Amino acid sequence: MANTILVGAQWGDEGKGKIIDVLAERSDYVVRTAGGNNAGHTVFIGDQKFVLHLVPSGILWPGKKCVIGNGVVIDPVSLVEEIEGLKRLGVAVDGQLFISETAHVVFPYHRLLDEQRELRKGRGRLGTTKRGIGPAYGDKAARVGLRMVDLIQPERFARALRQRIRENNEVLRALGARPLSYPRVHAAYRAAGDYLRPYVTATVVLLHEAVRRGAPILFEGAQGTFLDIDHGTYPYVTSSNTTAGGACTGSGVPPNQIDCVYGVMKAYTTRVGEGPLPTENAEIADLLHGMGREFGATTGRPRRCGWADTVVTRHAAMVNGIDRLAITNVDGLDTLETIKVCIGYRHGDRRYDYVPADLEVLAACQPVYAEFPGWRTPTSGIREWRKLPARCRAYLKALAELTGARLSIVSVGPAREQTIFL
Ligand code: IMP
Repeated sequence: MANTILVGAQWGDEGKGKIIDVLAERSDYVVRTAGGNNAGHTVFIGDQKFVLHLVPSGILWPGKKCVIGNGVVIDPVSLVEEIEGLKRLGVAVDGQLFISETAHVVFPYHRLLDEQRELRKGRGRLGTTKRGIGPAYGDKAARVGLRMVDLIQPERFARALRQRIRENNEVLRALGARPLSYPRVHAAYRAAGDYLRPYVTATVVLLHEAVRRGAPILFEGAQGTFLDIDHGTYPYVTSSNTTAGGACTGSGVPPNQIDCVYGVMKAYTTRVGEGPLPTENAEIADLLHGMGREFGATTGRPRRCGWADTVVTRHAAMVNGIDRLAITNVDGLDTLETIKVCIGYRHGDRRYDYVPADLEVLAACQPVYAEFPGWRTPTSGIREWRKLPARCRAYLKALAELTGARLSIVSVGPAREQTIFL
């Protein structure tokens, strides 16, 4: 396999974790390049469920090298817990996990500020995961963040943290929140820094050596295209570049070393948190929640659900340069008599075949639907494309055609083996 970027083509939770896991088998390196522990990638191996937040899911394949790149923001205390959890399950981490020395660190004041800003917004809140992601990237952009290279230098870290806590406590007090205790935060972060030190390295150089040797690299996307800080439904977005370009800036591997972009979409649409969702539909939400599906991996929140929206996925194909498409959760639609697909938006006299940037316009857009007959047959036991019901194949082909990408993978369940390659 060549160097591949994998992105979500919707609002995150497209089932990327499982597709990454399958593609990781053919890669030597798996790299996370954006976001933080707001992400939750769920992978099932046999009956064992793994939920990964920061560690690339390639770690579940013995011998794969996994990199947390410079574009990621790291809560070190939660990363230590994640690594310990993996070790308890018998997963080998040492010698396989590499953490960028220039990745920024998420601190408790970032989480408290995230929470306070959400509280103050009231009904206008973004519905963040409250993991401190926005404030951490804010500090990075404002050039007052601390990086992993600082965390692992005890004296420098102590000085810098004291100063950062002093400043942030003033802000927290002004917002009516309780200030933080420097000694407590310092002790917890010092311990995490000591634990993580052996993993922290010059990942840019490590990846360039891999490129020179021709070792295949998989860049695992987190979140989705419409949560991208530049291309998403701002301000209802996360704070990083979740689109394909973010894989290069977030790892230091240049664009001319990328061979292929995979887009992952669900056979329908979901979104967690606030913001417009043009094809939102209560009936399909009830159906999916009733099946015990579509609850967030990180926060457990029920996801909002709607019909597949190919205005969204076509826009994602444009922004990311999606060559190949993976469609997941196909089995979620097995019982439906009729399935709708949004093929355009209407807003007054105007028709849109891309996602309008003005959120008031987007919120007022009426989806234009095409209807497909349902296949009403269980698909989760099917392992070959030609054995899928003809109506299911027609639906999936239409989704790919309307998105403008080649259909390469169909997923009919959470397990590795429930994957059909075309
Ligand atoms: P934040 O990334 O915690 O700041 O949250 C900003 C928005 O992105 C909220 O709507 C979250 O629900 C959403 N979000 C963040 N991470 C994920 C994810 O991994 N899957 C789905 N939505 C996410």
